[in-house]
Amino acid sequence: MMFPSKTRVLQRLLPCKYSFSPTPSLGKAFCSRLVLGIETSCDDTGAAVLDETGAILGESLHSQKEVHLRTGGIIPTVAQQLHRENIERVVHEALERSGVTPSQLSAVATTVKPGLALSLGIGLEFSKRFVRQHSKPFIPIHHMEAHALTVRMLQPVPFPFLVLLISGGHSLLTVARGVDDFLLLGQTLDEAPGDTLDKVARRLSLTKHPQCSTMSGGQAIELLAKKGDRMRFPFTTPMGQSYDCCFSFAGLRNQITMAIVKKEKEEGVEQGTLLSCVNDIAAAAQHTVAVHLAKRTHRAILFCKANSLLPSNSPTLVLSGGVASNQYIRNALSIITETTGLHLLCPPPQLCTDNGVMIAWNGVEHLREGKGILSPNVDVFYEPKAPLGVDITAEVKAAAIKVPSVRMKITN
Ligand code: KG4
Ligand code: ZN
Repeated sequence: MMFPSKTRVLQRLLPCKYSFSPTPSLGKAFCSRLVLGIETSCDDTGAAVLDETGAILGESLHSQKEVHLRTGGIIPTVAQQLHRENIERVVHEALERSGVTPSQLSAVATTVKPGLALSLGIGLEFSKRFVRQHSKPFIPIHHMEAHALTVRMLQPVPFPFLVLLISGGHSLLTVARGVDDFLLLGQTLDEAPGDTLDKVARRLSLTKHPQCSTMSGGQAIELLAKKGDRMRFPFTTPMGQSYDCCFSFAGLRNQITMAIVKKEKEEGVEQGTLLSCVNDIAAAAQHTVAVHLAKRTHRAILFCKANSLLPSNSPTLVLSGGVASNQYIRNALSIITETTGLHLLCPPPQLCTDNGVMIAWNGVEHLREGKGILSPNVDVFYEPKAPLGVDITAEVKAAAIKVPSVRMKITN
């Protein structure tokens, strides 16, 4: 094979309340409904088998990260080809590790929106063939809804709760009111924070750094920032004069690029050389992203409180998506939740980045509610762009809530 495969099995995170007894002649007998989840919306080919309690029976994940790091970003046709090469093996591995046969599945859940068209197409085509071959119900999954609800696999978090979803493709604040019922409070006006961190990392040539050569941009920035002094690059936090819950990262990226260009001139080095102040730039970039996310989330919490959108008893903020793996950003958000009296919940990093488990779990949520379950022969199409929930960003903007200043003394 051209690229090494990377697979892993997550440990069961919750005890299965149903026991299953392996019987050699029949294989394992499962008392709980079982869902196969398939994810191919971007650059991870993931599959997992879950039971109804959220126990992960088997999982497999093939990450394309190293290939895209070498080419300097995701080339959709390359991503498509890698999904094509790996999907069958990944699904087979997840099933084999779970000890579940296709006939024992209750349904197959697959990401159909939003994402890269060419990537979504591979997962969807594979799934359509699979459900038709095995006569299984099909549950089409919205990738962002899956990120938002992953936390409920780990502990019982009742609706409604606030979600900050931050990844390579998205940045949004939403109130999750039900399995398929979301209120959109704000989203990015330009790029997503993961995309910004990936581009900054590329501009800093962090793949040449001995400790970062195989890391995503966000991971590399988090690592280097630990040893950096953020005060050396006082970047301006975006959108200080916009009293809504939207985000913007393109202007910040421009600020960072200009600082890098200035340093290259001062040090007399070409673009592509690792700068001596790379840790400081990483620390300042990460800090500014964290403060921007924290301020917009603070306003969203105040808006939710003013409009009784969250329960008065134990309101919760869930942090999700690949960028939510960042401990510094988690710590920044925890300052806001402590100030406002919310609980902060974050899935573990391996469930924040894309994976098949979160898709299977979203399938379980649909199955439990009997919602969005299709017969194997219904034609389903993928949707590269798909909004999340009811858009109330205009109402949030009109409320123009001023956020009191909070001391952001964030620890690493
Ligand atoms: O959710 P995800 O796996 O894919 C999308 O749906 O976009 O998120 C991937 C993004 C990448 O941009 C990556 O740089 C970022 O998550 N990321 C991080 C960290 N780990 C991954 N960003 C900041 N800190 C991290 N530790
Ligand atoms: Zn994602």
